[in-house]
Amino acid sequence: MTNAELAERVDTSDEWITARTGIRQRHVAGPDETTATLATAAAHAALADAGVDASSIDLIVLATATPDNTFPATATKVQDALGCNGGIAFDVAAVCSGFLYALSVADSLLKTGMAKRALVIGAETFSRILDWEDRTTCVLFGDGAGAVVLEAPSAENAGKDAPGILCSRLHADGAQHDLLYVDGGPSTTQTVGHVRMRGPEVFRHAVVNLAAVLREVIEDAGVSVDAIDWVVPHQANARILDATAKKLGISPDKVVITVDRHANTSAASVPLALDVARKDGRIKAGDLVMLEAMGGGFTWGASLIRM
Ligand code: ACO
Repeated sequence: MTNAELAERVDTSDEWITARTGIRQRHVAGPDETTATLATAAAHAALADAGVDASSIDLIVLATATPDNTFPATATKVQDALGCNGGIAFDVAAVCSGFLYALSVADSLLKTGMAKRALVIGAETFSRILDWEDRTTCVLFGDGAGAVVLEAPSAENAGKDAPGILCSRLHADGAQHDLLYVDGGPSTTQTVGHVRMRGPEVFRHAVVNLAAVLREVIEDAGVSVDAIDWVVPHQANARILDATAKKLGISPDKVVITVDRHANTSAASVPLALDVARKDGRIKAGDLVMLEAMGGGFTWGASLIRM
């Protein structure tokens, strides 16, 4: 759905949306699609790309704020659709930081030997929780899914330059939960509710928190800013991405931006952007890639990865 199409439904314009956010279009799930079907499609694509069979997956961690049902976890529906029942499968709720949280949880489970091969998925149908009459939120979000395959460290993939997650840091500040939230839920209103947001406040917190966690990971991993080949950020707003990169002295050329074509797909945005930059040849095996995200809660985090 382009900005022009959106402007037919709500009092906004392509000029306003593009100038304030960098968004030009977003994808909206069709009537037969759900978070589980999008997640399953992404999982199949990731398995094919990794060249591994679904039967070898013994862990599925699915990040979403828009599950198919209150329970069971959408991850279990994906597990069944992939035909790999029996392993671990659960959802992670950290909204736009969900993929970073899911990645860290899966990495920890692999490193402790609880599982051998994981699918980490970020999948959302935010279009279902938008108030399509609220122009301050409905222009910002889109639907989508992305996935990665992770493997436990082994003799074959060990060593200093081996692929893997080098360092992750996660944070939450529950005192800010009412700046970005959904005004419904099973335990409160017994309705699904809609996204509500105090945009300018979210913007300010996003830049400060993201810059801080990126500094933390850079310092804890013992790398220099210049050693980072690519930054794959959560895609909320082009201005947040620019301001964060500037604060850290990261060249804008190293920042993967897909917010123009996907809008904010919450937990799906980081794996979607990673996929785009791998497919167009920017991100290659051996590259040092920083992932980062911030979302409702607030929650935020970053992971440094060797591809
Ligand atoms: N179309 C036209 N006008 C609009 C629209 C719209 N879609 N939305 C708001 N406006 C108007 C407002 O009513 C206001 O008008 P007024 O001055 O007459 O009162 C004017 O535009 C400015 O509104 P602001 O909210 O001050 O605009 P701002 O420049 O802060 O941009 C935005 C708003 C884009 C939401 C920005 O604050 C932002 O990006 N915040 C971060 C929010 C975010 O990314 N959330 C996603 C989840 S969290 C995350 O992923 C990091």
